[in-house]
Parts: sequence; C-alpha cells; structure tokens
Amino acid sequence: MKLAFIGGGNMGSAIIKAVIDKQIALADDIVVSDVDTSKLKNMAKDLNVKTTSNNIEAICEADVIILAIKPQILSKVLEELKGQIANNQLVVSIIAGATIKTICKGLKHENVVRVMPNTPAQIGKGMSAWTTTDAVTTAHRKMAEAILNALGKQIYFEDEKYMDMATAISGSGPAYIYLIIEALTDAAVHIGLPQQQAEELVLQTVLGSALFLQKSGKHPAELRNMVTSPGGTTAEGLFKLEKGKLRATISKAVMASYKKAKQLGS
Ligand SMILES: NC(=O)c1ccc[n+]([C@@H]2O[C@H](COP(=O)([O-])OP(=O)(O)OC[C@H]3O[C@@H](n4cnc5c(N)ncnc54)[C@H](OP(=O)(O)O)[C@@H]3O)[C@@H](O)[C@H]2O)c1
Repeated sequence: MKLAFIGGGNMGSAIIKAVIDKQIALADDIVVSDVDTSKLKNMAKDLNVKTTSNNIEAICEADVIILAIKPQILSKVLEELKGQIANNQLVVSIIAGATIKTICKGLKHENVVRVMPNTPAQIGKGMSAWTTTDAVTTAHRKMAEAILNALGKQIYFEDEKYMDMATAISGSGPAYIYLIIEALTDAAVHIGLPQQQAEELVLQTVLGSALFLQKSGKHPAELRNMVTSPGGTTAEGLFKLEKGKLRATISKAVMASYKKAKQLGS
C-alpha cells in the first residue's frame, strides 16, 4: 500500500512508525510532506521514508492520502489539493472537527474516511473512531482499517453523528484520565506518601484496574463492590465521591465537550 502523509507531526509520525512496524506499508512506499524541513530530514534518516515539502508531489502515486495537519491549516491544504486527487485515491483525515462534508467539498473528492484517533495511538494503544462516505469501496475500507489497527483499536460508525460523541469520550478522554491520575497522586502526597511512590501506586492502580475490567468482562459496579466492604475504607471514600457529585460532573464535562465538538464541526 502506497501512503502519502500531508503533515509529519506528532500524529503523522506516530502513524508512519506504526504502519512500518506492523508491516502495513514499506518505508519505501511512504511519502511525507511537511513545511518543517528539519522534521523531514529526521524522518528520512530515522524511518527511511521519502520526503518532500510539496504536497502535490507527495500525493501523486499514493493509494491512500492521510491528512495529518492542524485544523487551522486545513482550508489552505484543501485549496491546494482541490482537483488534484484521482477517484481511486482514498483520503483519510484525522483532523479533529473536520466533517466529511468539509473535506469532500474542499477537495472536490468523494472517496473520504474521517477518523478521530487519540494520543495513546502514539504507543499503539489508541482508540480510533471512524466513518466513511458511501463512495468508499470495501477494498479501501480494509486499507483504512489496517492502518487504524496498527494504532490500537478502532470502531467504525455508519453515521457520522457519532464522531462528535466519540470526540468527547475517546478523543478528549485521555485528558480526563490524566487529570484523575494527577488528582489521585496529589491526594496521596497530601496524606503523606512520598511523591515517587505515590505516582507508582496511582499509575499501576489505574493500569491494573482497566486491564482487570477488560479481562474479567464484568460490569465495573461488580468489581467496585468487590473492593467495598461494609463500613470499610473504600465505602468511606466512595461516599465522598458521590457526595461531591463525581458522576454528575463527569456527565456534564462529556456533554460540554460533545457540544463543543458539534459547534466546531458546523
Ligand atoms: N495529537 C493527537 O493525538 C491527535 C488526536 C486526535 C486528532 N489529532 C489531529 O491530528 C492532526 C495533527 O495533529 P498533530 O498533533 O500531529 O499536529 P502537529 O504535530 O502540529 O503536526 C502537523 C504538521 O503539519 C505541518 N504543516 C503545517 N502546515 C503544513 C502544510 N501546509 N503542508 C504540510 N504540512 C504542514 C506542521 O509543521 P509546523 O509545525 O512547522 O507548522 C507539523 O509538522 C490535527 O488535526 C489534530 O486535530 C491529533
């Protein structure tokens, strides 16, 4: 599979590393275009991919063109690539908030996949939500799926309306989890644990709890009950979390993020 990347920043380079690592594409079949020539030099040296600072040159032989630029640059790049993409080339956009309609209209091209990845994709543990136009063939879907599988897990949505919801959950989600990790670590230090040990206790607790939940296949409430003995320490802590309206606060945060995603996309 021949891939062209427009933008070789954090996400672009993470996808390139993942597809090479998982042998989805050969380094020789990958072209990266970026305005930052020092970034290009490093990528050519470290990953053996072809590089250019000309976006149109980058896409000419590609089966799949991956748009990995910041949303602020999108209209400029769409204008540049408009009418330059052949019908049999697939465009995959990972740009947050950019709708299928914006991409199709901007490029005058119907063969488009929209993806919402997340930052753990940078270590192959990502969660990507994606959708396509009706024009995307089964063969192209399989290509997109293979690329996204290299980044971690993926879920396909038939209806684009779910992309804004996924943005509020898996897209923004890592930030919520990091905030909880930070708060738990600060609280651990507050009650007297040394910083380093506090960090280790919290991180392993979060990792272990998530993996246990995944492996057990049980409902989170069931696993929570297993830790909560009557009149015990966990019950005391949970009571304070409920009293502090943790659930309602999380729900409000997700709703606010979802509304913002919808607003940015319209
Ligand atoms: N980071 C994530 O985990 C994540 C998660 C979900 C979605 N996304 C989406 O992924 C996209 C890329 O994010 P990122 O974090 O990888 O951004 P990034 O690190 O800034 O990468 C974008 C790259 O594109 C380059 N660029 C700027 N103008 C260009 C142009 N006209 N043609 C070609 N390349 C150009 C930038 O160079 P300069 O730096 O010199 O401008 C930069 O190297 C964003 O749209 C974001 O919404 C990212």
